[in-house]
Amino acid sequence: MDGNGRWAKERGLPRIAGHEQGAESVRAITEACVELGVEFLTVYAFSTENWKRPEAEVAALWMLLEHFIEQEKPTLMKNNVRLQAIGRLHELPASCQHALSEAVALTSTNTATTLVLALNYSGRTEIVDAVQSICRAGLAPEAIDADAISRHLYTRDIPDPDLLIRTSGELRLSNFLLWQLSYTEIYVTEKLWPDFGKADLREAIGEFHKRERRFGGT
Ligand code: FPP
Repeated sequence: MDGNGRWAKERGLPRIAGHEQGAESVRAITEACVELGVEFLTVYAFSTENWKRPEAEVAALWMLLEHFIEQEKPTLMKNNVRLQAIGRLHELPASCQHALSEAVALTSTNTATTLVLALNYSGRTEIVDAVQSICRAGLAPEAIDADAISRHLYTRDIPDPDLLIRTSGELRLSNFLLWQLSYTEIYVTEKLWPDFGKADLREAIGEFHKRERRFGGT
């Protein structure tokens, strides 16, 4: 969800105002996914590298996330949205963990769209955690194949993404879903995340439908 900081800077506002507006986009895009029948939406809300940001911005981000999770519960229920999270969740501030596990439990039987929050997430730490989990499970080396690794990732119950949308023109993966993005179609837009709306999502999906996916075949 890149571009929150730039969106705020363009308006002479503090960076957190950009994140607040970014949360509005999460709301709108989740709703659009329900309307369009998109079954899974994963948003990269906080990376393991984001702890390097100024302490005040990190604290404000966790407060915003907790507030969002609390405030959104009725809307998630109304729109039949299931909330899930991936990342090293045990390192989140305790109050955020609490709000998250309540909302995850409350929405667990909803069936329209699954909104996955990537929190304290990075693709490399996910793979490290998967390897540790495989070792703890005592798998024999010959039993370790791609499916076994997928089964030990945080995303074991989530399909690999069809489409990756990268906002604000960034041309990097930034440690996001490194394993799962192997055959994902990439769509880059210059729009900053707070300006990314329902029409932009429709355009991205339209572009996706024009792609020919070969998954390494001919
Ligand atoms: C990246 O843009 C954005 C983040 C690191 C934070 C994303 C968080 C939110 C949108 C908060 C709300 C999230 C949810 C799930 C409700 P940036 O700050 O790096 O922007 P810049 O590249 O323009 O500086």
